[in-house]
Amino acid sequence: MTAPIALVTGASRGLGREVARRLAEKGYTVLAGVRTPGAMNPLPGVEVLPLDVSDPASIAAAAATLKARHGRLDVLVNNAGIMLDRMGDVLTLDAALLDRTLATNTVGPLRLAQALVPLMTAGGRIVNVSSGGGQLSVPSSWSPAYCMSKTALNAVTVQLAEALKPRGIAVNSVCPGWVRTDLGGPEAPRSLQQGADSILWLVLEAAPDLTGGFWRDGAPLPW
Ligand SMILES: NC(=O)c1ccc[n+]([C@@H]2O[C@H](COP(=O)([O-])OP(=O)(O)OC[C@H]3O[C@@H](n4cnc5c(N)ncnc54)[C@H](OP(=O)(O)O)[C@@H]3O)[C@@H](O)[C@H]2O)c1
Repeated sequence: MTAPIALVTGASRGLGREVARRLAEKGYTVLAGVRTPGAMNPLPGVEVLPLDVSDPASIAAAAATLKARHGRLDVLVNNAGIMLDRMGDVLTLDAALLDRTLATNTVGPLRLAQALVPLMTAGGRIVNVSSGGGQLSVPSSWSPAYCMSKTALNAVTVQLAEALKPRGIAVNSVCPGWVRTDLGGPEAPRSLQQGADSILWLVLEAAPDLTGGFWRDGAPLPW
């Protein structure tokens, strides 16, 4: 038995780094997708993979490197994310800021899945790190670009889940809760560990045929 192989994007800090660390601890072969490899503090047992998810050329290069080094992928955690409009107002939302947010939070995860699904087989898992801010059933007025990008990411999840069901690859969205990271800020009630637990449940504990859902702490979240 060879160790399962996982790619975690946005693993330089915050939730991505914690998820990468914990998967390596569990015996996974972990690739940490980071856009500035030199700036990352090394993690024991974790390989660094240069990857800017907003750049199609970077995605293609990362997929080629992963294929050459390992030949397959078992788990993709689309974690990289940005929030550029914390105090934003949808009535004055800058279209360029929305474009940048969608490129990282929504289109990047889709492109990465497109590039890496050929390396995945039945039992594979794609975990899209979304946010309660993307729930349509709980209307948000904060950070409109961010929240819209996560709603759209949830749509990516559903589309991919349907497309990959026949191949036995599970695709789900997860909310880590409001977590103390650079993005979440110091006022957030949850620790890094609690946020990572919510994400890791889909990698380590959820039934392999559970697909097309939105989850927090192992419980379904309304869209
Ligand atoms: N924290 C919360 O309360 C919370 C709540 C709900 C959902 N989330 C989601 O959880 C995920 C992780 O958030 P976090 O709180 O850990 O944020 P964070 O501490 O700000 O870390 C964000 C990570 O994403 C990376 N990143 C940003 N743009 C990238 C790009 N174009 N290509 C590759 N990597 C990129 C950053 O890399 P650099 O170091 O290079 O900038 C960093 O590693 C995000 O998707 C976020 O939306 C967080």
